[in-house]
Amino acid sequence: MHPIPVRKMKFDIPPADTFDSRIIAGNLVVSYTALGISLYVAYLEPFLVKSMRRVLDQISDDELRENVDRFSRQEAQHYQQHERFNRAILEAGYPGLKARFDQLKADFERFFKDKGDKWCIGFVEGFEAYTTQGALAALGSGVFDHPKTDKRWGDLFRWHLAEEIEHRNVAFDIYQHLYGSYLFRVKLAMIAQSHIINFIVDCMRIMSPVDTARRGEAYRVTAQHRLLVRVGVLPMFFRTWLPGYTPHDYEVPGKIAALTSRLTAEAESAS
Ligand SMILES: [Fe+2]
Ligand SMILES: [Fe+2]
Repeated sequence: MHPIPVRKMKFDIPPADTFDSRIIAGNLVVSYTALGISLYVAYLEPFLVKSMRRVLDQISDDELRENVDRFSRQEAQHYQQHERFNRAILEAGYPGLKARFDQLKADFERFFKDKGDKWCIGFVEGFEAYTTQGALAALGSGVFDHPKTDKRWGDLFRWHLAEEIEHRNVAFDIYQHLYGSYLFRVKLAMIAQSHIINFIVDCMRIMSPVDTARRGEAYRVTAQHRLLVRVGVLPMFFRTWLPGYTPHDYEVPGKIAALTSRLTAEAESAS
């Protein structure tokens, strides 16, 4: 099996009528962050795929070209699965959420149309540099196996983040292969990383008051919580801005390898 296998998974999709935001470990901030990520990737990941495919012919290295193709096929599976889960969030009735989601869509359409290849690949790299670390931290914490995690969402994120670790080097490698400029990479990392965090915080700001009115004070996200989300990611972001940063340096724990083997066995198909 190739180290970046393309798996087709079958998940139990949560319905909208029983939707409860507290999907991860009973922790509201972590749950809203996960929900924001789920919405975000529905438009981000098609942008990743289109951006990568637009430069495929410029890649002179056969192995890298295959990795880029596999990266794109993994990401295509991710956003299709998230779209199925996102229906429950969007149909649960949060005033303003659809408008913010539409604005996100418009952002990515504008980026792809107006920005050049180097900008788009830099954005892809900046996003991937964050998700790899987020994936290692989240899977290492065992949060998706927590008894208070909604199993359906836990299964989705466990699979998605495991594949983010599998293809962690691809965006960096293609950026280095085609462009290599350090300062431009850092600039785009900052743009990409602030773009997702702003979206996640906006989702919290929109969803929490509605959930608080419906379900009680335990669903209230405060300004302090939102600040915590912004500050909490800074060490991960900062690491990617260093001149010597490379995802090739990450040590992947043995339990991630065991997880990816298990996912391959559970997949409807894997190639
Ligand atoms: Fe992904
Ligand atoms: Fe990815």
